[in-house]
Amino acid sequence: MEAIIRSVEYDRPQGLTCGVGEAWARVPDAPSAERRRELKEQIRALLRREKAVLVAHYYVDPELQELADETGGCVADSLEMARFGRDHAAQTLVVAGVRFMGETAKILSPEKRVLMPDLDATCSLDLGCPADEFSAFCDAHPDRTVVVYANTSAAVKARADWMVTSSIGLEIVADLHARGEKILWAPDRHLGGYIQKKTGADMLLWQGSCLVHDEFKGIELDLLRAEYPDAKILVHPESPEAVVALADVVGSTTQLIDAAVRLDAKRFIVATDLGILHKMRLAAPGKTFIEAPTAGNSATCKSCAHCPWMAMNGLANLAEVLERGHNEIFVDPAIGARARLPIDRMLDFAARHKKRVQASGDLAKDGALFSNVGAA
Ligand code: 13P
Ligand code: SF4
Repeated sequence: MEAIIRSVEYDRPQGLTCGVGEAWARVPDAPSAERRRELKEQIRALLRREKAVLVAHYYVDPELQELADETGGCVADSLEMARFGRDHAAQTLVVAGVRFMGETAKILSPEKRVLMPDLDATCSLDLGCPADEFSAFCDAHPDRTVVVYANTSAAVKARADWMVTSSIGLEIVADLHARGEKILWAPDRHLGGYIQKKTGADMLLWQGSCLVHDEFKGIELDLLRAEYPDAKILVHPESPEAVVALADVVGSTTQLIDAAVRLDAKRFIVATDLGILHKMRLAAPGKTFIEAPTAGNSATCKSCAHCPWMAMNGLANLAEVLERGHNEIFVDPAIGARARLPIDRMLDFAARHKKRVQASGDLAKDGALFSNVGAA
């Protein structure tokens, strides 16, 4: 079935958030080695003083990832970050990632203090899906089940029936499709198109995209593959269809790291934010990881495989936020309570799915591992 397409502009600033150029301009300079050591010491002490836990995404600075790991926090994909923040006993969560991740943590734990190194760190998918326009879109299609990607504002989630992340979106849409439901999907057109193709579901797609993954080029990737015929290709499903079509594995960030460990290959080409390479190299020592190409025909390279908003998280602003206790995330309680419904639905589904898969012994289908091996 052909997906129905609606066109909207997506890369424009709204509200408090900052656009691509401004984000790059605000990326903190790398401090000297000596200063980095001092800042890390300070952050460890402040995390203890504030009884806080650091929840980081794989795309942020490797030194922030290491700090999260060594201080009992987590480095994870957006689904695990949400679960970890909700389940951890700490009353202060410091989210090193982008705004929707901080908002999701706050929605799931309204009683906790959620801080972020820079509150303006946003996401092109979130920017491209303003709540008022999205709400009008939903109103125009009342017969459809509304499924939104995690990379959206609290207000957009508050209009949804389900929230999904790339770890579990395919399974949830397949389940809804099996129940005969028609889907209204937002905002990532590439992930939506991929899921539509895999499940055959009737999906009406909002036309947002991730400006990092949008830059990967199928033609160039094909040329690189010819150079390294032994390499396996790992692709995040926010990438364009031509890139996904060349993948050996399509999956969330955690699923791609798992694939790098499990697959019997020595070399991998990776089409996602280059921040992930740090964890891949740690998890699979002795293997070689090559960045998928963003150059070539029609390249604009607004991001060159690195998210400008993720890059806004640094050691200095992390230390400052812990010291001063500012940059707290607030979500309107009524919006938060409504937005929690689709998130809880996803987390419950993911827990049931994991149990089912574990009971069947089919680990290759475990959403927390890599469910889409060979599924491009
Ligand atoms: P994951 O859920 O796979 O971590 O993806 C989040 C994201 O923003 C990818 O660009
Ligand atoms: Fe958003 Fe893309 Fe950045 Fe992920 S990498 S936070 S989808 S802009």
